[in-house]
Amino acid sequence: MSTLDASATARRALFYLLTNDTDDRRPLYDALPVEHPVYRDASGTWMVSSYRLAKEVLNSPDFSNRTPSAETGALQDTAGILDMMLFQSEDHHHRLRQVFAPLFSRTRMASLRELVQADLAALFAQIPDPARFDLVAQVAQRLPVLTICRLLGIDVTDTSRLVAASLSAIRLISFAPLRPHEHAQAVTQTMAFMGELNGYMPGVLSLIRAGDTPASPAAAQQGATATYRELLVNVLLMFIAGYGTTMLSIGNTVSEALRRPGLWRSLVAEPASVSGVIRELMRVEPVVHILIRYAVRDAMLDGLSVKAGERVALLIAAANRDPAEFEAPGEVRLDRTSGNSLAFGAGMHGCIGVALARMQLEALFAALIERMPNVALERDANPYLQEGCFRGYRELWLTNARSPSPAA
Ligand code: HEM
Repeated sequence: MSTLDASATARRALFYLLTNDTDDRRPLYDALPVEHPVYRDASGTWMVSSYRLAKEVLNSPDFSNRTPSAETGALQDTAGILDMMLFQSEDHHHRLRQVFAPLFSRTRMASLRELVQADLAALFAQIPDPARFDLVAQVAQRLPVLTICRLLGIDVTDTSRLVAASLSAIRLISFAPLRPHEHAQAVTQTMAFMGELNGYMPGVLSLIRAGDTPASPAAAQQGATATYRELLVNVLLMFIAGYGTTMLSIGNTVSEALRRPGLWRSLVAEPASVSGVIRELMRVEPVVHILIRYAVRDAMLDGLSVKAGERVALLIAAANRDPAEFEAPGEVRLDRTSGNSLAFGAGMHGCIGVALARMQLEALFAALIERMPNVALERDANPYLQEGCFRGYRELWLTNARSPSPAA
């Protein structure tokens, strides 16, 4: 039985996709949009691989991030996760986004860019053996958390401890299947981390208030506000959404670039193309492989009748390779005129941190190109990491022939 047969029709297809970290998914994601653009697996989950349909669901008010048990109040939300903007809709969602928008102003992005470049210089200088190293351990696990701490004004002395303390919160929003005791433990640990973040709130709030560009004249007029509880839980969201995704994106984009030696050589020759190349690399290997939605009410999906409460799994990594939208989808092309990749989502929940994420990736590529133009993948098979809907690499071993000495 091929991987496609096993995953496309198996009863627990979604479970398989959320938990399996051993397989190379490329053949599956290439085939799904063509062979099964939308189908219902035996567990009743709608599996969507068509780009057009995935985008339609993301833009439709008929589908929400909240499970039906959250709507009926049957879900115990001790940690207050449902106050995250990710799980809110309409006015509540809009209000929370407006409150946090000043953190991402152009001026703040420009000042963070300088810090990111300095952090990268320090991280590259600390690599013990630049001739052979794990990019994930040396750079990807460090840079984004430093950046997110700077974004939120959090003391950056102990980033690895903050990462460890926040891992449970990532599990809670990742749609990773958790047993009841695992869920309870994750909630307890998340609440402990929120207690810690609470200590940083005065600094975060002053950064939000100091934002130099009101999100919009309308928001300024309405004076978008939030309760303290909403602010705290959304600072938690910024923290975990901000570093985990960027960390995994570093491995995914660098790996995809180096799998294509011709592409890497052209980047070294013409570094100005890095921004467009990164967009394409994120399309072919997005970190958020899957987005889950629930039908809020009975809805039609391409002529199919989806009942209120039913689950829809948007297979983003497959939709991003849908040949109906992207000609020669496996190729990195800078002249594409159709379709925006869904790597950062779409619709009202589209990523608020796009500019920050892209800036870090561009700075990382610029640093690699400048310092290690001969860098290569040491081996094709690096171990994957699958945490629910998030996918990346646990390790990414690179070699660097004729690298300059760290002091150079
Ligand atoms: C390469 C890195 C990143 C990727 C691939 C990524 C991807 C995504 C995706 C796919 C969504 C949509 C989720 C959904 O529709 O359910 C999203 C939403 C979000 N992202 Fe990102 N993200 C990245 C970086 C960041 C950063 C740096 C931040 C903040 C510092 C951030 C904060 C958020 C927040 C708060 C949301 C929820 C927005 C809302 O509900 O309105 N992300 N991201």
